[in-house]
Formats: sequence, structure tokens, C-alpha cells
Amino acid sequence: MATVNTSGGRTPLIAGNWKMNLDHLQAVAFVQKLHWTLKDAKHEDGSVEVAIFPPFTDLRTVQTLLDADKIPFGLGAQDVSTKDSGAYTGEISGAFLSKLDCRYVIIGHSERREYHAESDDVVAAKVKAALAHGLVPVICVGETADDLEKHGASAVPVAQLKAALQHVPASADVVVAYEPVWAIGSGQAATAEQAQEVCATLRQAIATELDDEAAARTRVLYGGSVKAANIAGFMRQPDVDGALVGGASLLVDEFSSIIRYQKHVGV
Ligand code: 13P
Repeated sequence: MATVNTSGGRTPLIAGNWKMNLDHLQAVAFVQKLHWTLKDAKHEDGSVEVAIFPPFTDLRTVQTLLDADKIPFGLGAQDVSTKDSGAYTGEISGAFLSKLDCRYVIIGHSERREYHAESDDVVAAKVKAALAHGLVPVICVGETADDLEKHGASAVPVAQLKAALQHVPASADVVVAYEPVWAIGSGQAATAEQAQEVCATLRQAIATELDDEAAARTRVLYGGSVKAANIAGFMRQPDVDGALVGGASLLVDEFSSIIRYQKHVGV
């Protein structure tokens, strides 16, 4: 197996997946408050990239605010259609997201896999559509508690990642998020060592499916009950390049403290 250089100079990414929370008015108040909090803490220095993933109906409003106030947060959507346009009621094209200056799109979140029966093939088609529209897919993979018991931690996430990368060229910019389903919203995060082990295995899978350079460059995040109290442990791991945060990304103080993990990484 190829040995991947993990020192790759990857910029840490702290991403907030709001799921179906905060309408467009609440979004404005939240983003302004988060920006002021980080600015007061002199934390908008580019050492950590911050991205937020509001509901579709908030995107235009948040885009306008980020632009007007020069707030350096990346913007992302929570899903994208496999189709470019046409008679697909309720779907959102990657073309529309690019026009809203979205940089990222979450694809294959376990809640979409579970509640919307998204298969690995649908996830792969969405990744392809995202790349075709210049979006960076944040590819979510993770095992259920049952998978963990039957197959161990890495087997299902690696199989999901390989399937998701089937149409991806080695030069593509993608982000991978390891989110064990049993850790999402449960308050029971993986340990930093568990996260490191699976993230390292996922990086090896990127080397196998794409190439070593892609594996060294690609950011692999951990997600699942991340909070201010446990982020430092994850960020100390060589193969964990950031976090995909759900519930804690809806609380300004908690999320800003997660973003400022460098302040407590040595603690
Ligand atoms: P929680 O941080 O609420 O566990 O959610 C994680 C997640 O699903 C992010 O996509």
C-alpha cells in the first residue's frame, strides 16, 4: 500500500452543517454574530477556513451578506441534483448553486442516505454533477452501529468513498467527511484515535482510487457530536483536517470556540 505524506500543508476546514435549521432572517443574525465574535478574537486570519451550509432558502441572503460585509466564510449547500435542469420538481441544480457563489456542497450525508434512500450510485452522480458546475463536493461517508459491530469501523466508509469517487479525476478538488452514523447527534463522538484510524484509511483509499498527490492534498474531516470540548483532540490527529459540525454549529459561542481550537489545542 502506498504511504501517503500527511504533512501536506492542508488548510484546516471547520464546516457548519445547519441541516433544517435557521430561516433566512435567523441566518443573517447568526452570521453577523459569528463574524463579530471571530473578529473580536482576531481569528479571521486565514489559518482556519470556515464554511457554513445553510438551507437552500437562506443561500441568497447569506451570499449577499458575506459579500457586502466581506465576511471570509465559505458558503455551501446541503445537497445538489444529479441533473442540470429540466422537469425535476423540487430539485436544485449545481448551476444555480455556483451562481450563488457556493463553493461547497455536501453530498451523501447519512440523513440523505437514510431518509431519501440515496444509493452509492446516486451519490457518485451528485459528486460528478457538483464537479461539473465548479463546486467542491464534501463527500460524507460513515458506518452505522450495526456496520461497526459486523464489519469494523473502516469497511463501510471506504466502500462508500470508493463508489463516490468512481467518476472523479485525480485533479479534482474534493473534501471527504467521515461521519460515523452512531456519533451523529448522539452526544457520543468517536474518540480522536478512532477518527484518526478511519481518516487515515480513507486517505489511503484516495491514493488507491485517485493518486498519492490527491491523497496528500485532500482534506478529510471528522463529524459526529463535535463540540468545543473535543475538537482539539481531533485536530491533533495527522489525518484529521477539520470537522463537519451539526448541532454545535448553530450556537455562536460554541461554534466560534470550535473554530478557535488552536487556542486550546495544547490544553
Ligand atoms: P452533530 O454535530 O449534531 O452530531 O451532526 C454531525 C453532522 O451530521 C454534520 O453533518
